[in-house]
Amino acid sequence: MKLALDALHLVLPGGKRALAGVSLEVAHGERIAIIGPSGAGKTSLLRLLGAALRPSSGALAIADVDPWALTARALQKLRGRIGMIHQAPPLPPRQRLVTAVLAGRLGAWGLWRGLASLAYPADIAGARESLARLDLAERLFDRCDRLSGGQLQRVGVARVLYQRPDLILADEPVSALDPQLAHQTVGELNREAQTRGVTLVASLHAVDLALRWFPRIVGLRDGAVAFDCPPLRVSDAMLHDLYATESQTIPLQGGEPLAHPEPMARAARGAATPLCR
Ligand SMILES: Nc1ncnc2c1ncn2[C@@H]1O[C@H](COP(=O)(O)OP(=O)(O)O)[C@@H](O)[C@H]1O
Ligand SMILES: [Mg+2]
Repeated sequence: MKLALDALHLVLPGGKRALAGVSLEVAHGERIAIIGPSGAGKTSLLRLLGAALRPSSGALAIADVDPWALTARALQKLRGRIGMIHQAPPLPPRQRLVTAVLAGRLGAWGLWRGLASLAYPADIAGARESLARLDLAERLFDRCDRLSGGQLQRVGVARVLYQRPDLILADEPVSALDPQLAHQTVGELNREAQTRGVTLVASLHAVDLALRWFPRIVGLRDGAVAFDCPPLRVSDAMLHDLYATESQTIPLQGGEPLAHPEPMARAARGAATPLCR
């Protein structure tokens, strides 16, 4: 699914400016990581891309259409083609994993099949298969409130894998996972996007995860794009600038070193226009 953002601004109800002039072109099948300090606007940007929030100004096109010019029914249909993975998936505590995963296709199934599936899970094998990719197959009939925060995050990922959307949006999907599971989970998302040719946009707290898995890295700071580069061109200096407000340290998964530690673009520091693109 193609995405086009032109000078997007988002002012939140309280008057806070969450995004200040974001422009991005995302081609069909691209995989992009969004990194940046907390408060940079990552969640806001993902919610705009999922047509969950309406921009205050600027132009947004999802699959070549302005979602906010659509009828309510067409907007709902568009949202059904988008899979959103939340940092803390909003799953009903008493729901079993099998039902939570099958709910990924509720939008596609229509009311009656969906309601029937709540009473008797329609595609147990399919749900098990998605959960198995996240090492959770044996928890199929457990209730969500029996799981840890990290396990719930993986259920949120399994649900979107099961959904098979045309666009996957993930908001810090592995923030509660240990480094090994985080790599496995981000790897599954990337494999899914690559094998089915779908667009993937994920915000990540850990910079090393982003650099290792994604061919395009967007650094977001103060609601604006600070850089938009392939991982090989993201320098230490650019990362230090990006996280300058956040206690001077670059957030990493484990003790692993950065994938590309050499400073490469120091000369470009302080440039007014986004770096690399
Ligand atoms: N519901 C809200 N009400 C007021 N301000 C908010 C709300 N949500 C986010 N913000 C503010 O908007 C800015 C961007 O937030 P967000 O998109 O959540 O950033 P990130 O995901 O990068 O941490 C921050 O300054 C944050 O404090
Ligand atoms: Mg956030």
